[in-house]
Amino acid sequence: MRMVVLGLGYLGATHAACMAELGHEVLGIEVVPEKREQLAAGIVPFYEPGLPDLLQRHIDSGRLTVSGSYSEAADFADVFFIAVGTPQKKGEYSADLQYVDGALEELVPLLTRDALILGKSTVPVGTAQRLSERAAELAKDIDVEIAWNPEFLREGFAVQDTLHPDRVVVGSFEGGRAVAVCQEIYSNIIGAGIPFITTDPPTAELVKTSANAFLATKISFINAIAEVCDAAGADVKAIADAIGYDARIGRKFLNAGVGFGGGCLPKDIRAFMARAGELGAAEALSFLREVDNVNMRRRTRLVELTREVCGGSLLGKRVAILGAAFKPESDDVRDSPALNVAGQIQLQGASVSVYDPKAIDNSRKLFPTLDYATSALGACDMADVTLVLTEWPEFLKLSPSEVGVRVRQRVVIDGRMCLDSDAWTAAGWAYRV
Ligand code: UDX
Repeated sequence: MRMVVLGLGYLGATHAACMAELGHEVLGIEVVPEKREQLAAGIVPFYEPGLPDLLQRHIDSGRLTVSGSYSEAADFADVFFIAVGTPQKKGEYSADLQYVDGALEELVPLLTRDALILGKSTVPVGTAQRLSERAAELAKDIDVEIAWNPEFLREGFAVQDTLHPDRVVVGSFEGGRAVAVCQEIYSNIIGAGIPFITTDPPTAELVKTSANAFLATKISFINAIAEVCDAAGADVKAIADAIGYDARIGRKFLNAGVGFGGGCLPKDIRAFMARAGELGAAEALSFLREVDNVNMRRRTRLVELTREVCGGSLLGKRVAILGAAFKPESDDVRDSPALNVAGQIQLQGASVSVYDPKAIDNSRKLFPTLDYATSALGACDMADVTLVLTEWPEFLKLSPSEVGVRVRQRVVIDGRMCLDSDAWTAAGWAYRV
């Protein structure tokens, strides 16, 4: 099938390459010229394991082409995916829908045949309805159907999650052809026994927001328990393991630490609260404010702990920060807990040296005044305290004695509870979480 993917960021580039992998002919539209040129040459402008091979293969096969032209998009196919960003509005909780709206405004007037527009971006409930009404106004004597087909991919596992999702969800308006078209698009996936859930657009939109709100709640739940553990002298990791054996609870997303960040969970729970407020259901989601508060407190607490182990003041101290990405296997630093903590520590007068295997370039753009090292050991040179804030596999393999000879003081704060505490303690380190 021929199809267009509008927006080639983390979501769109992965979706476009994966659709080509499923055998479709895909045109990806990217309006930022540098990104477009890179993608057209088969280069992924961000770090996502497995994606460069897939992209290159389908650029070479000709099954995936890249353009910046909406008129080309309108001619190319009659199925369109919206995969543009929906960031948080500046100074507000709600989602900024300017890119979603912009894509519709630009595309629909150019269409000359009936078309199906499938939303993949995470949007506030009611967006499909609003876009559907707007598309009817913009369309010239044709029928433009809007439906929602949310994406659940995780960065770092984006290709795997797209080709082998837990479920495919399609929310369509009555009488539309979205379900039939999605059945065809995802026939290989659905044929492999993956649940195919068909529903109405508001439900599909809410499936996505609810899933992310639940995941965020699970992380903040265990981080709230971690606060109690701190006060009571208990071990939160042992609690997560023990409660995780209960199949109703499950061990995943119960890793306590510096909390969640990234381009999705933090802004999605805030947009969800804002939307519930608009719908008169604010009270239903007031607990999400606490989920957010617990999460943000984790960052402050780590800064306080760092100050405490430095004897009460960070002034003139050297702090090593291992990890800048919001999670391993990603170079994404959007709302990264690691960089937030690094920035706060620097503000309190310490010199901060950051190392991350993939996210240094992106970090430098956001936090240009931090020092960036080219290796984990380099970041630790003469450090008074070492913080691990992203659980990259290479940090788990560090030799505590090798790091020990580089630092001024053997104090490590494990913000992801990922190190072998016994090994670090045996090498003479004070190990704190
Ligand atoms: C998330 C959802 O998982 C995905 O389904 C959705 O499509 C987009 O948002 P992503 O943002 O890529 O995906 O990352 P995820 O793996 O969910 O991690 C989010 C954050 O939570 C990271 O900062 C991670 O470090 C943190 N986290 C995760 C924890 O702090 N503890 C955990 O137990 C799990």
